[in-house]
Formats: sequence, C-alpha cells, structure tokens
Amino acid sequence: MASIARNFEELFGRKPEVISEAPGRVNLIGEHIDYSEGFVLPFAIADRTYAAIASRSDGLVRIASHQRKEKIFSIDIHDVKPGSKGEWEKYVLGVIWSLGITNGVDILVDGNVPAGAGLSSSAALECSVAVALNQLFALNKTLQELARATQKAENDYVGVPCGIMDQSVSLMAHAGAALLLDCRDLSTESVPFSVADAGLELLIIDTQAHHALVDGGYAERRASCESVATKLHIPSMRNLTLEVLTAHRSEVSDIEFIRARHAVTEIARVQEAVVALRASDFAELGKLINESHNSLRDDYAVSCPELDVAVEASLSAGALGARMVGGGFGGSAIALIQADNLVKTREAVTLAFESHGFKKPRFFTSLPSAGASASLV
Ligand code: GLA
Repeated sequence: MASIARNFEELFGRKPEVISEAPGRVNLIGEHIDYSEGFVLPFAIADRTYAAIASRSDGLVRIASHQRKEKIFSIDIHDVKPGSKGEWEKYVLGVIWSLGITNGVDILVDGNVPAGAGLSSSAALECSVAVALNQLFALNKTLQELARATQKAENDYVGVPCGIMDQSVSLMAHAGAALLLDCRDLSTESVPFSVADAGLELLIIDTQAHHALVDGGYAERRASCESVATKLHIPSMRNLTLEVLTAHRSEVSDIEFIRARHAVTEIARVQEAVVALRASDFAELGKLINESHNSLRDDYAVSCPELDVAVEASLSAGALGARMVGGGFGGSAIALIQADNLVKTREAVTLAFESHGFKKPRFFTSLPSAGASASLV
C-alpha cells in the first residue's frame, strides 16, 4: 500500500520507517473454543489493516487513522497504561503497552476490514501494529509471542475478554489455506482450502445486527466453561469427552452441561473438518458446519434471529453448509455454496431479511489470504 507512506508524510511531515499489514479473519469451524484450549480452523481474508510507523525521540506517541484524518491522538509514552485515555486508539496503545515499548512513535493506520461485521477488524489493527513495532525496534518476537501480546492488549488494556484465535490467524495464516490452530500451545498446521477448485464459494453474510448482549454474553459463556473445568478438576474443556461429561452430569448445572457439550463436540468437529478438507469432501464439511451452527444456537445460545435466518435462507437456496461465525449475537454468517448459486443465495438471504424486517445484509467473498507482514521503508 504505497499511499499509506505518502499519507504518513503529509500528516506527520516525515517518512515512515516501517510499513506493515495484517488481515481480518473468517473462522471455518471451531467457534467459542479458543479460550477452552481447543482447536480452531480460521483463515485470513484478503481485507487488511495497514500501519505506517516511525520512532520519536521525545517520548510522544501520536496515532492517526486515514479514516478519521481530522484527529491526531497524542499521549506521553509514560501514560500508556490500562485505564488511560483513548477510544479506538486503545487497540494500538494496548499493543505498545503489552510489548513494553518505552520509545515514542508516530503511527498512521488505514484499512478495509469491515468494522462491526465480526471479521476481526480489531485483531487486524492490533497485529498490524505489533508486527510494525517488532520490526521497528528489532524486538525479535515470534509470531506466538506477538499473538499472546496482542491478546493481552485486548484483554487487559481494551478490556475485551477475547480468546487467542483472531490474533493468531491474523499473524500466522498462509494464502490458500485454513490455519489449524491448537489454542493450547499455539502450534499450527496449514490445511489447503481450495473451494474454488471444487466449483464452490464461501459466502460471508454480514447481518448488520449488533446486539447489546455481546459483552456480557461472551464473558458468561467463558465463565461457564471455566466453572465446569473447576468442578470436574480438569484444566479446560480440551481435557473433556462427551462420555466423561455425561457421567458427571449431576455435578454441573444444566446450563453448564449444555455449554460444555458445545465445547466438547465443537473440538471434535474441527478435527473431523480437517479430515474432510484434506479429502476434499465438501459435503461432509458442509454437514459439520451445519452441526456447528446448531450447537452454537441451541447449546451455547450465542446466535440471534438474524444469524439463524441467514443460515436457513442459505440452506434453502442449496448451500452445503452455513453457520454463524465469531462471537455471535450478531455479526456475520458463512455459507459454503456452489459458485453458480452465488446470486441465488444472496437473493434468498436478502428476501428473507426483508420479510423479517431486518436491516439489509452485506455480502463478501474472500479467498484465504496470507497473514501479517512488515517491512522497512
Ligand atoms: C471472538 C473472540 C475469539 C473467539 C470467537 C468465538 O471473535 O475474539 O477469541 O472466542 O469470538 O470463537
């Protein structure tokens, strides 16, 4: 992105030293199990956030966004700690804080990851800044360390109790592949995801719905899984099987039981999805995607009417599988469809939304893309 260097120079009156980029993501399967040390199978989308950055010797941190050019946010590096000022800038400040940066910097960000669509524009922002700082100050952090640092920024600085999936895939993804991530140790495997070769397309449906439940609902789901782990004396849902959970049913509440059932079955579905993908068995993949949605809707209760309608309309238009993605309570759904059926599926979803009186949905498609990168200017 050549224009970001030019824009940086116009805004700050000097050249950037490093330019970086990091993508948003879509999760194929493995939802709400990253914080339970499960497996997830996301891929990076083509849309990304760019950062241009240069160090300063006066300890000042200045942050600007190409989308909100009128305002340059400014803070002394010594004041960069949780609870200090900032709005969206907190995502940037959090990374500066969690990486222990003590120098001043000028940062300009720019990007095209749709915000509020559940495609992890926040992780893209955090990771673009993290790889830029890593390069600028020669921090020599591994991608795993950067993933942990950006998650810490979001958890402890911004105050969002997210897991590790979004940042990991934004940093570690490979083009043309989904990323099998083991959230226990952050080891990864690339799983080729070539839907186009099979005449298929992965349609992303932004429901444009954002429900107020989001924050509390996410933390509450996390707490249920942690409570089950404590009661059953295991480190996390990763150590649980359906048989053991069923045998100990009386030791957990009814809500905890169904939340844990989602986690356990979803971890198994990810492993089955990898086998299906490797065999190019897209019918099986579609079936697993549908099961994931049903489990998220019924056991985990993180879906919402807009997501359910998007899924149902896609399936009735012939999708092989469809499900909500991300944290839920709004945001996006995905549908694995025949490429020929793209227009028909979009029309079916649009019509269904109209007849329910929902906002007009937005549609995207994206090939699996590469993860973050940074280079000296
Ligand atoms: C959000 C969080 C992730 C993950 C998903 C649900 O996107 O940021 O860490 O928990 O929800 O899978």
